[in-house]
Amino acid sequence: MRETLAVIGTGYVGLVSGTCFAEVGNQVTCVDIDEYKIKRLQQAEIPIYEPGLEELVRRNLGEGRLRFTTDLEGAVEQAELVFIAVGTPSLPDGGVDMGQVKAAALRIAPLLGRDKLIVIKSTVPVGTARMLESLLRQHAPQHASFEVVSNPEFLREGSAVRDTFHMDRVVIGSARQKAADRIAKLHEPFAAPVLITDRESAELIKYASNAFLAAKISFINEMANLCDKVGANVESVAEGMGMDHRIGPHFLQAGIGYGGSCFPKDTQAQLRIAENVDYDFKILRSVIEVNRLQRELFAKRIIEALDTPKGSTLAILGLSFKPNTDDVRDAPALDIIRILVEQGVHVHAYDPVALVPAASRLGHQGISYFTDPYEAVAGADAAAVMTEWQQIKRLDLQRLHMLMNRPILLDGRNCFSPAAMAQLGFEYISIGRPSI
Ligand code: UDX
Repeated sequence: MRETLAVIGTGYVGLVSGTCFAEVGNQVTCVDIDEYKIKRLQQAEIPIYEPGLEELVRRNLGEGRLRFTTDLEGAVEQAELVFIAVGTPSLPDGGVDMGQVKAAALRIAPLLGRDKLIVIKSTVPVGTARMLESLLRQHAPQHASFEVVSNPEFLREGSAVRDTFHMDRVVIGSARQKAADRIAKLHEPFAAPVLITDRESAELIKYASNAFLAAKISFINEMANLCDKVGANVESVAEGMGMDHRIGPHFLQAGIGYGGSCFPKDTQAQLRIAENVDYDFKILRSVIEVNRLQRELFAKRIIEALDTPKGSTLAILGLSFKPNTDDVRDAPALDIIRILVEQGVHVHAYDPVALVPAASRLGHQGISYFTDPYEAVAGADAAAVMTEWQQIKRLDLQRLHMLMNRPILLDGRNCFSPAAMAQLGFEYISIGRPSI
C-alpha cells in the first residue's frame, strides 16, 4: 500500500528519509520554514553534502512523488502520515531544545481530522510522544482521531542514503498495535527487522544506541593511550577484541574522538535525562570526558612536536568530523585548531569539502584555507591529519615529504603505516601505535 506523507523539517533526517520513502513509491511532501532552502530543493539543489542524495531527489521530483513546500497546512491536510523531523538542538545546559517540535505540533493540531498518524523521527527525550499527544489533544478539533508514534532514525551522515536502504532495524514505539503495523508496512520495502515496543522504550533505544557506540569509541581511545605507554599496538588489540562476536569489530577505530551533530549532543542529552530522574549515569559521564581529553591530548602532542609553537606553521589535513561530509559541527579538528591558534601557531587548513563551513566557525585569524593539500603542507613545520578522507589517505607522501619544511606528520586517524612512513623519512606520530 502506498501512503501519502508530510515530512516536517528538511534537515538530514527529514530530507533523506522523505526522499527514500518517495523512492519506494510513496507520495511525499517535505516541508520547511526556510523559503530559500525550499526554493533550492525544488530545483534539486541539495543544501548538504550527501553522496547519492541529489540523484534520488532529482528522480523523485521528476517523477512527481516528491514535493518541497513551505505550506505546512496544505501538506498536512493531504497527508495520512505526518513525520516530525525538525531539529532538536542542545540547550546550554545539555538538555534538548524542544521549541521546533512543539511549534510544529501546534501548527499540525488544528488540521487533525480522522485517523492521521503523527510519527516522531526527531531525536527527542523520553516521554515526548506522550507529551505531544496531550499537546495535540488540547489544540485539535474535538472529534479528531489520531495516534502519536515514535520511529527513531539511525542513519549516519555521509552514508545516509545507503543506511536507509540497508537499515539494521526499524524501531517503532506505539501505544496501539494498528498504528505500529501501519508504520511497519511503510518500511517493508527496506526489508529490515522490525521491533515494535512502547513509545518510551523506542525513544530510549535511540539514545542508548548512540551512547553505547560513543562508549566503544572512548573505550578504544583509552586503550590507545594505554598502548602508547606499554608499547602495544591498538589496531591489533581492536582486531583481537573484534573477533569476539559478543564485542564485534565496529566502532573500535582509535583516533581523536567522535564529533558531529549526534554523538556529542545525544550523550549530553541522555546524561540530562538521567539527572532529571536523579540517576547518575557514571559511564556516560566518563565517555564524554574521555572524548574531550582525547582532543586536548592530540593538541598537546602537536605542540610538543613543534619545537617553538609560536610562529610555526602547521598543516591541518581534514576539518569535517568524519569523511564524506561537509559537517564540522563539534568536529575535533576545530577544537584542536582553536588550541593551536591560541599558542601562536599559524594553521594551513585543507579539507576536500568543508572549508567554507569551517571558516565560518573558525574565522581567519591565524588560519589560511587551502583547496589543495600540497599547497597547505608547503613550507609547514609539521602536518596533522584530523579526518580520514580518501583524498588524504591517497596523498603522494614522497611529494609531501619534499614540500614540508620539517617532515613531521601527526596522524589523528591512523591513516598510514608507521613502517612505510619511517621508510619515507617521516617523523610519524599516530594514535596507540608504536613509532618505528
Ligand atoms: C551517528 C550514528 O552512527 C547514527 O546511527 C545516528 O543516527 C547519528 O549519529 P554520525 O554522527 O553520522 O552517526 O557518524 P558516525 O559514522 O557514527 O561517526 C561518529 C563519530 O565517531 C565520527 O566523528 C567518527 O570519526 C567517530 N568514530 C567512529 C571514531 O572515532 N571511531 C570509530 O571507530 C567510529
